[in-house]
Amino acid sequence: MRLVVTGGAGFIGANFVRTVVRQFPDAHVTVLDSMTYAANRASLADLPSDRVELVEADCADTAATDQLVAGLTGPGDAVVHFAAESHNDNSLASPGAFVHSNIVGTYAVLEACRRHDVRLHHVSTDEVYGDLQLDDPAKFTPDTAYNPSSPYSATKAGADMLVRAWVRSFGVRATISNCSNNYGPYQHVEKFIPRQITNILSGHRPRLYGSGANVRDWIHVSDHNSAVLRILERGEPGRTYLIGADGERSNLQVMRMICELMGVGGSDTAGGDPGFDHVTDRPGHDLRYAIDSTATREELGWQPQHTDLREGLRQTIDWYRDNRDWWEPVKARVETRYAQTERVL
Ligand code: NAD
Ligand code: TYD
Repeated sequence: MRLVVTGGAGFIGANFVRTVVRQFPDAHVTVLDSMTYAANRASLADLPSDRVELVEADCADTAATDQLVAGLTGPGDAVVHFAAESHNDNSLASPGAFVHSNIVGTYAVLEACRRHDVRLHHVSTDEVYGDLQLDDPAKFTPDTAYNPSSPYSATKAGADMLVRAWVRSFGVRATISNCSNNYGPYQHVEKFIPRQITNILSGHRPRLYGSGANVRDWIHVSDHNSAVLRILERGEPGRTYLIGADGERSNLQVMRMICELMGVGGSDTAGGDPGFDHVTDRPGHDLRYAIDSTATREELGWQPQHTDLREGLRQTIDWYRDNRDWWEPVKARVETRYAQTERVL
């Protein structure tokens, strides 16, 4: 099996490549990654060079993408498309990069797969559906209408629409997955969970946007990737699969869990110092995401394995504690950028 994994030097892509190398001894992976600030060579550095090749290129570069996709000639070969600008806060500051990578990049990947009749799996997010009220009984399903809020989710929605059109108009053999919020090792320290963990490890206070009432549906990255592998194996071209692990928690709940696991702060309910700061809220902040993954579970026989969020967070904290060399070089730059807009409430 030969795979081209776009965005394979980022968080979820690198975890995916590592899983493939571990689980499929005959697989060869070519990572196509433009090595933005979100990529890290160290996430792949220990993998065997005869099995994983890193090609530094923009997936929107049609010639570079076409050349790599043309090499996928075997029946089990495929492109797994993770490459994207992925951080909502950045999309509010600089949306242009999101239009380029997420929409133009996906267009180039689709055209290459069309030209060479190569199987494609497109990795997307539940954020394309917009947000839910806290008390909304319905979760997102494959039939929920798209209603994106931010430049990030709007460009991912646009990419999904391109994939659907290329399936219908040109017969491209593509599947789509929309997954909820991921956490785990190798996640960039700009994101919520690793930011708080590495703040504490660096002697700084964690930062909660607004009141922390916003709800995210957390899934461990290895469960996301096991679902992607299952879709590659058993998924039906043209179909959309929702991936989630019933991990809904408010940001405040997650923050308290991290602080408790790391021995920071007292009880904020008793009026003491909670150990974290409430800071300026994100403009247009989506209130709640929640995935109903029943159809994916029933049709593909997939189940998430890491459903104990507290245990997953404990392991993730250990990973960041044990891998300071991986995140320390970029930490100060991320916090300097946040400090330009963030104010303690
Ligand atoms: P990430 O930001 O950690 O990694 C993205 C990778 O894509 C980086 O290595 C970056 O260099 C690369 N990239 C960006 N633009 C590129 C381009 N034009 N050409 C080639 N490479 C490019 O993101 P992530 O969290 O690993 O997310 C991966 C995918 O999963 C994205 O498509 C994202 O929308 C989706 N997703 C993420 C989550 C989540 O919680 N992180 C949840 C659901 C879906
Ligand atoms: P994030 O990891 O950016 O993912 P997404 O925007 O895709 O959900 O943020 C997760 C949640 O955490 C979101 O509601 C915003 C919030 N948040 C904080 O409260 N503090 C932070 O420092 C960050 C980065 C995010």
